[in-house]
Amino acid sequence: MSPMHSAQAVSSDGLKMEDVTLLILGASGDLTARKLLPALFRLWKKGFLSERAAIIGVARREKSDDSFRDEMKEAVGVEKSSEDAEHWDAFSQLLFYREADLAETSQFRKLKSEVESIETERNLTGRRIVYMATAPDLFLPGVNALADADMIPSREEQDRLRVVFEKPFGHDLASAQELTASLSRLLHERQIYRIDHYLGKETVQNILLFRFGNAIFEPLFNRNQVDHVQITVAESQGMERGRGAYYDRSGALRDVLQNHGLQLLCLVAMEPPALFEGEYIRDEKLKILQALRPGVPGGEISDWTVQGQYAGGTVDGERAVAYVDEERVPADSRRETYVAMQVEIDNWRWAGVPFYLRTGKRLKERVSEIAIQFKRPPMNLFTTVECEGDLCELVDSQPNTLIFRIQPHESIALHISTKRPGMQYQVHPVRMDFEYDEAFAIELPEAYERLLLDVMRGDSTLFTRSDELEAAWQFVTPVLKQWEESGSSPALYRAGSWGPVEADELLARSGRKWRQPHPITTTR
Ligand code: BG6
Repeated sequence: MSPMHSAQAVSSDGLKMEDVTLLILGASGDLTARKLLPALFRLWKKGFLSERAAIIGVARREKSDDSFRDEMKEAVGVEKSSEDAEHWDAFSQLLFYREADLAETSQFRKLKSEVESIETERNLTGRRIVYMATAPDLFLPGVNALADADMIPSREEQDRLRVVFEKPFGHDLASAQELTASLSRLLHERQIYRIDHYLGKETVQNILLFRFGNAIFEPLFNRNQVDHVQITVAESQGMERGRGAYYDRSGALRDVLQNHGLQLLCLVAMEPPALFEGEYIRDEKLKILQALRPGVPGGEISDWTVQGQYAGGTVDGERAVAYVDEERVPADSRRETYVAMQVEIDNWRWAGVPFYLRTGKRLKERVSEIAIQFKRPPMNLFTTVECEGDLCELVDSQPNTLIFRIQPHESIALHISTKRPGMQYQVHPVRMDFEYDEAFAIELPEAYERLLLDVMRGDSTLFTRSDELEAAWQFVTPVLKQWEESGSSPALYRAGSWGPVEADELLARSGRKWRQPHPITTTR
């Protein structure tokens, strides 16, 4: 057992240890093994979970507590001889497994009494979190099953239950609204935690601190100083682990841009909240989503959006098949694996500043970042001569760019121009940066770690509220609809490239270019 647990009633950061019953519905899925259990184990090691807490995996498959514990041990990657092994022995005592089918109310009645007996044994007070780690079409049946089994406390006692929903929350505006309306008959909005795991990333949270905890940068964040903003969520992975079946119903716009992409945009563009508290922050994010407009006013959807799909190619030195040749993807699929769009925020601060967003699978590198490109100096006093062999050209100073690198190599960098040493005034671009690795000699917490702890503490700041979610769907639904109705096909791009040429043309129309955010492996 960790000394932290036997000696203290508080965790390593001085906060209370959580006594909670966490029910994971859909516990035999990938999410539980890959994200939830590793995050819970890390919380345990840091002393955030009390010894009385219970984590109960629920799914249809037959399994004993011991087999669930063994499976999770393997998933978390605990080696017998490692230091973690000792921690795991203590942590595994918190794990239980119970069988239940969401479609069978009688099984949930049985589940209820089994959960209560675990709670009585562990002296838990019945404060519960239900994590819906199921397919999205089971969200509502799951909550209905809880209601039928009398597992939803009355409105007066609503703090005794919180329910966490994974994305996707809805498929478009209408389905998201329908789901919200159905859930609101059984749960209060305060009990609902919609996960957008990007908000749990340390570097994403730092955007607000950087903006509103320093006085010198914020005055630059506006239409007078900023030329444009680029938001990139690029992935080199494709459809590993049979993900094609889910992805082909979703696509890049629903899977990443509608949620992670727009959340990043909100954080970089929102006004300072009156107080640093959940509702105030979410109010400000909502205003940004409500002010979102197509980047080409009055234009066709195809004037400001680009959809792409990967063809075969090479990624990280390995041959990658085309999207349509991936496992569980129909050979004639027209689903987009890449999307880029140009949007504007029609408010006092940002009117007229283009925001470019892009995300895609099987791109050259895995990198997520926000780049704010400032305007050029009003006059060009300094130029420099750049030669390659016999070919020389005059180069202007580069515009200043501020980059929030979310992953990998988390950092904040400011690109500036400086004088190249020598007898002439020649401009040379350099970079000032702050790197997490260098500044803090600690492993950054994983997004799920932070978010699970926030649910336990009842802090919804980093979760998406229903009105935010609807505003995001409201913006992207016409695009999805137009793509579907027009039967347009995504432009092909080579796996291992930075996306289709059409996306380059989107920026080229205004004389701009996408940043090439590499090399990533070295930080300079
Ligand atoms: C998920 C998407 O929400 O985010 C995945 O469903 C995507 O398709 C993932 O791969 C990216 O998250 P991260 O944290 O790896 O950048």
